[in-house]
Amino acid sequence: MGAARTLTMDTAASPFRADHARILRGLERSAVEVPSGDLLTERYDATVREAAVHTWRDRMVNEHRSAAVFAGLVPQLIEASSTIDVQTVALRAATDEIYHATLCGDVVRAFGGEAVATAEPALARMPEHPGLSALERAVRNVTFVGCLSETVAVALIAEERELSEEPFVRATLDRILPDEVAHARLGWLYLTQQLPRLEPGAAGRMARYLRVAFAYLERREIDLLPLTPPEIPAELRAQREAVGLCEGEAARSLFYRTVTEVIVPRFEALGIDAADAWKHRREAAAAERH
Ligand SMILES: [Fe+2]
Ligand SMILES: [Fe+2]
Repeated sequence: MGAARTLTMDTAASPFRADHARILRGLERSAVEVPSGDLLTERYDATVREAAVHTWRDRMVNEHRSAAVFAGLVPQLIEASSTIDVQTVALRAATDEIYHATLCGDVVRAFGGEAVATAEPALARMPEHPGLSALERAVRNVTFVGCLSETVAVALIAEERELSEEPFVRATLDRILPDEVAHARLGWLYLTQQLPRLEPGAAGRMARYLRVAFAYLERREIDLLPLTPPEIPAELRAQREAVGLCEGEAARSLFYRTVTEVIVPRFEALGIDAADAWKHRREAAAAERH
């Protein structure tokens, strides 16, 4: 058992205090209005509708799973004696992800599908990282979620939003995108604020952890990104983009650019050698398998 932790209601010196106050003022969330009649089913090719249903249903499951991820961060933030505003932001993010799941479900229905999915019965638990202090454990997991997963999500969703010409889909992505930006911000702000407070050598430990984290992220994101069959004609490709599907090579290269041009430089600016970690990620993955 570690030493007793401190619970304080004082957020005066915290960068999250404005978020905290705003969240408490109101959690107004509304659905996007679904176009009336059979507009969406008439406008798109059957294969495009089917792809839209399939992809948005997968997104529904992923968004909902993210709610558990953020909720799982909360006990670790509590154990780390974080200020309570950070806990509010993490809990709010969990609520956002549930809301996003409902929005994705609306898109599934709009394209003629049922907003029902089967998913794994048990969710992975938030890693404990034995040997780390409670604070460093929380920083590490908030970093993975915010600085890696959510930062990649921001890039992909921004691109999908850019491509989507279907107003209902675009309106949906307009609701989701700012939340994902806030989720990424939670990671970067918390890391920036807490890194100097960790025990000596924390930047080096983070860089070593990033090798494993990058390898895991790459595997997961590349698995999630659907490959567009190469024989799809240009006209149908345009329809797929209009309904928010960013697929294949375009999505892959966007993922790699986000890591190397956004994520790695931001870590480097904090004194964490992420460029080296990215370069050596495959060795970390190989070592893990042995
Ligand atoms: Fe989300
Ligand atoms: Fe998110």
